[in-house]
Amino acid sequence: MCGIVGYIGDKNVDAVILVGLEKLEYRGYDSAGVATISKGELGIRKIVGKIWRLAGLLNQKPLGGNVGIGHTRWATHGEPTRLNAHPHVDCNRRISVVHNGIIENYYTIKEKLLKEGHVFESETDTEVIVHLIEKHMDGNLEKAVFKTVKDLEGSFAFAVICEHDPNKVVAAKSGCPLIVGLGRGENVLASDATPVLSITKEVLDIEEKEICVLEKDKVSLFNFDGKKVERKSRVVEWDVEMTTKDGYDHFMLKEIYEQPRVIRDNIRRRINDDYKIDIASDFNLTNGELARVSRIIIQACGTSWHASLVGKYLLEHYCRIHTEVDISSEFRYRNPVADGETYVMAVSQSGETADVIAGIRSAKAKFLKVLSICNVMGSTVARECDGVVYTHAGPEIGVASTKAFTAQLLSFYFLTFYLAKIKWLLSDDELKRLLDELKTISDKMEKFLNSDGKLNKIAKKFYNAKNFVFLGRGINYPLALEGALKLKEISYLHATGYPAGEMKHGPIALVDEKMPVVCIVPKSSVYDKMVSNIQEVKARKGRIIAVATEGDKKIKSIADYVIYIPEVSEIFSPLVVALPLQLLAYKIAVMRKCDVDKPRNLAKSVTVE
Ligand code: M6R
Repeated sequence: MCGIVGYIGDKNVDAVILVGLEKLEYRGYDSAGVATISKGELGIRKIVGKIWRLAGLLNQKPLGGNVGIGHTRWATHGEPTRLNAHPHVDCNRRISVVHNGIIENYYTIKEKLLKEGHVFESETDTEVIVHLIEKHMDGNLEKAVFKTVKDLEGSFAFAVICEHDPNKVVAAKSGCPLIVGLGRGENVLASDATPVLSITKEVLDIEEKEICVLEKDKVSLFNFDGKKVERKSRVVEWDVEMTTKDGYDHFMLKEIYEQPRVIRDNIRRRINDDYKIDIASDFNLTNGELARVSRIIIQACGTSWHASLVGKYLLEHYCRIHTEVDISSEFRYRNPVADGETYVMAVSQSGETADVIAGIRSAKAKFLKVLSICNVMGSTVARECDGVVYTHAGPEIGVASTKAFTAQLLSFYFLTFYLAKIKWLLSDDELKRLLDELKTISDKMEKFLNSDGKLNKIAKKFYNAKNFVFLGRGINYPLALEGALKLKEISYLHATGYPAGEMKHGPIALVDEKMPVVCIVPKSSVYDKMVSNIQEVKARKGRIIAVATEGDKKIKSIADYVIYIPEVSEIFSPLVVALPLQLLAYKIAVMRKCDVDKPRNLAKSVTVE
């Protein structure tokens, strides 16, 4: 994971790198550091902990200069100590490197370098990069980097500066994201576009096995063999304002409240006045090819996996496409049965999740077509697939995924209705009816978000509970999984999501008078079944917190607490059900004084296996 930034230009280099690192802090926040070259000398500041501590240190002891690199770490090799924090330096402290990824053959390289007399300071895999560069350095930094990358195995995006060639930042990419922002008289690089936005919206995507050299007035691109590469820049559609908290206490809260707008904007973008769904513009596939899809294997992780489970329900129901959903870290190591009409789908907010990317590559190795649902333009997932449905949720910074989840659900609705239409399984009238209702959902989401008072009371009652159970059925079973994941990742409470009908096969033994059980029971085809399951829990004295449809009096007489959501058709209910689950987790985490946006041990995009 980890985030890297590099800058060359006339702005205050300490500040540019700090602001950039703040944007990338979601990628890891165990330790952080900056290196710059000022008046020909390399200077370094690093700390254990979050970026605000680094800001304090730089305030007391500024570095300055016109060229620098920075890093925010999610520890893999070596504990989060100051010595293990990046940037790392060579034996003579003239070269400095920041790195995202894992150097798998670091041990062998280190042994060799030790024998050659190099002195190591840290336990990290990264340090071998800087010593290799030192070994190969003969005055030209990029030449040393060309030689260094030949020795490295694993995944990396690293950036390096050097006193002996001080007017550049050189960076290399293989398996980890790297983007360059093209400014006027200044250039910047980072692990994603968010740090770049305060300088420019014009970016270059660095592709696999490429090296870029940033000077003040130019950026040069090469492949690992040293051959020059030409690439067109693109304009990022995100704004720098989108990456601020905008008055909210946390990014997560802001992102929860952004959902109605994201859904509304996406519907406007995707559905035209004639009820045509516009999603295939980023597909390298014809409608004829898409109409023949007979089987889909969706692979994803975490929240994106939960969205995919809802997707399965939709694709099977409307398109009659046999759909499997697999966790990417499992999918990549199995040997799925697949023929030419089987498509693989990758769902990912960041587009940089290592297991998802590996899943795409293993599918492509079997010559399968791969579609994706992805939030980040130009990300690895988006670039490697045959077609991508962008979720257009804007940057999601809170580690707990919220608006990306509902935007992924929306993309599944679009994709499903699109495929059902080209397969002749959906009439014009039915499509119109569905899309008309979909257009009303954002207002309903807004209505709920403007009236969430009940949740404070429930959170107050249960924030000290030891365990939580979340139950759902049918299309809302994945929402039970999602509710439990939200709660555990930000509040550190143990929570389990379960299909309600399966409770009696074991987990009901967990239920006693102390157990809060969140029951997702909107009006639906499985409403009565769900009510019976709730009665079973109630009979064991479980504390029922129901998420139910406005006006449902029956549930009020059974549950201890009811969170009412506006009435929506069963098919669209996950879009609204997600909101109380996200808010409940948020409020409990705040009451437990947890770091909501940066929960312990986690990082936003998991770029390691
Ligand atoms: O960027 P991705 O959607 O590929 O990320 C997948 C998971 O790492 C992510 O959803 C994770 O589970 C979130 N922290 C959940 O809130």
